[in-house]
Amino acid sequence: MTGNGFETPLTRALGCRYPVVQTAMGWVADPKLVAATTNAGGFGFLAAASIPPGGIDAAIAAVKAATDGPFGINFHMFQPNAEEVIEAILLHRVRAVSYGRGPDAATIARFRDAGIECMPTVGAVKHAVRAVALGASIITVQGGEGGGHTGSVPTSLLLPQVLDAVDVPVVAAGGFYDGRGLAAALAWGADGIAMGTRFLLTSESPVHPETLARYLKTADPAAIRVSKAVDGLPQRFIDNEELRRMEGMSRPARFLASLRHGLSWGRAQGMSYASMLRLALRALKAGDAGFAATVMAPNLPRLVEQGLVSGDTRGGLLPSGQVAALIGELESCDALITRIVREAEERLSALRQLPGRDCETATQGAWA
Ligand SMILES: Cc1cc2nc3c(=O)[nH]c(=O)nc-3n(C[C@H](O)[C@H](O)[C@H](O)COP(=O)(O)O)c2cc1C
Repeated sequence: MTGNGFETPLTRALGCRYPVVQTAMGWVADPKLVAATTNAGGFGFLAAASIPPGGIDAAIAAVKAATDGPFGINFHMFQPNAEEVIEAILLHRVRAVSYGRGPDAATIARFRDAGIECMPTVGAVKHAVRAVALGASIITVQGGEGGGHTGSVPTSLLLPQVLDAVDVPVVAAGGFYDGRGLAAALAWGADGIAMGTRFLLTSESPVHPETLARYLKTADPAAIRVSKAVDGLPQRFIDNEELRRMEGMSRPARFLASLRHGLSWGRAQGMSYASMLRLALRALKAGDAGFAATVMAPNLPRLVEQGLVSGDTRGGLLPSGQVAALIGELESCDALITRIVREAEERLSALRQLPGRDCETATQGAWA
């Protein structure tokens, strides 16, 4: 599917036309969004974290029914059906997997042996180096302005650091939304861009219309801020009543709320009390998130579902990248990707025409 002016090691590895990735977002990156991205020449990741046990095969079938193009799956090891998702990825030979708190080296080797690209998202240089040591074939590096769980270093600093530290293709994420961003990322030496929030705000997004309106109305990047109050880890949300309420709670009250959310979420997933306990112990044993984060983790899915799916913009949570403040309208995935590619071409061509530039030399980049 390549052969255009934007062929990079990333498009060759993923088999997509343009170096534009739609990242996974729980309750957002569903089969329709993934297929729309892939059909537009980008590469979509299906969010398995919000697919209940027993549902992954049907979700993969729904993507395949809507596109012949390649796509990926995102999951994490602390979802109740992690093993089921891993086996489905291998069975259906999806093109790529993405993950944050991800699988061990043995599982990554199983994916790589099956020809599946392993593409974790990292928010720190040391995590990029460790991910490659564990077997990752592509790194998505997300600067602190990005949505979901996020680090503290902005894309402009983290991207060059990671590019210097690893020798696999690197995809830039965090704050991208237009063709200027794609041109800039390629100029930095990245092989493409990955976007979450921009794809959340498309006409194929399954997010509730009231919630979409709330995102579009947010015009101040500073109002999309990082908080640890929800699950103990830094995560970016649009400031709202629920976020402030959680921040005002005492620690014991927050743990109690988490217990309540955990039980209700676990029951909705069809889990027994014993399997809920086992999952919590597994997360604790992994040790990378700490006790508080493990105990508070169940707060997240219930409240995000309330915000994104039920349209409760006051009582639910609204995860978002700061870039939502720069986005004023919904576009279709096709219109979005077409525009990004056109704008990037314009920027790159303008650079080639700067006085004193040698056209021959200037067009020898990855995008030439
Ligand atoms: C609503 C929302 C849900 C997200 N859910 C997930 C998820 O389930 N798994 C994951 O790895 N990342 C998740 N993320 C992070 C995104 O995949 C992506 O890395 C991030 O949004 C990129 O930054 P940007 O929003 O500035 O483009 C989520 C982000 C948002 C905004």
